[in-house]
Amino acid sequence: MNEISSAVTEVDQVLKIPDISDNDVARLTQEIEHTGVAVIPSYIDDTTLAQLRQIVVEIVDGNGGEYAVLTGKAEIADTLLERIGAAPGFLNFMHRVYENGRGHAAPSQSMYQVLRCLSGTSGLRQAYFFHYDSYVVTALLPIIIPQEGLTGDLVMKPNHRRVRTTYLANLIDKMLVDNQFAQKHFRCQAKSLQGGFTKVRIVPGNLYLFWGYRSLHANEPCDPKVIRATALFHFGDPHADSWLRKLTGRAKVRATADPAAAPA
Ligand SMILES: [Fe+2]
Repeated sequence: MNEISSAVTEVDQVLKIPDISDNDVARLTQEIEHTGVAVIPSYIDDTTLAQLRQIVVEIVDGNGGEYAVLTGKAEIADTLLERIGAAPGFLNFMHRVYENGRGHAAPSQSMYQVLRCLSGTSGLRQAYFFHYDSYVVTALLPIIIPQEGLTGDLVMKPNHRRVRTTYLANLIDKMLVDNQFAQKHFRCQAKSLQGGFTKVRIVPGNLYLFWGYRSLHANEPCDPKVIRATALFHFGDPHADSWLRKLTGRAKVRATADPAAAPA
């Protein structure tokens, strides 16, 4: 177990971050293992969700109604999303999910956050981009989701690969999926829900957990006239210390060693 207190802090109380018991963490982890995704309904309360919606609308408006993405610490800094990502109750929860899933202590790493706002034709181009995340645990918090027409559902092949022991093996996996032929193949499979693909309709305020590193995933298209916004919280980079990764420079904007998150 890590040093981040499991006790509910003032920050957690202000943000109304739910206190998830160890039993529930174990149950959620099993659910991820068996079905691919676990859901915590209404993880974020209506007031916080309304504030997040407002932030998203301002970002998209400021970008001429087109696709906008905020990644990493610098771009998320001083936003409500940073406060949620830094809430001790949430961090502690992510660490426990990692530890249950991997069977060992959580690494001393920070969380890596992304805010994705799909809108306009540039947002449409983000659909069906199949990939593996670089982090073991992915928590997806939908903020604005279209209610009809093209709703941009999450499509995934759950737990499709193991956590690789080397960064090179991970890189080869990624190269095998990041090409036109493979992407087209996965798109066909995802559309007909074949080859192990499953689809999840996501609801704002709920928290969706899955093994992002192990699961091939993407979003379906959504109506370019409306916004689809999701906050992503990633934790647990298995290759953070890889010399090859450092050499290729792919670790620059990723999670960093975080003394505050050091395991006990
Ligand atoms: Fe992802």
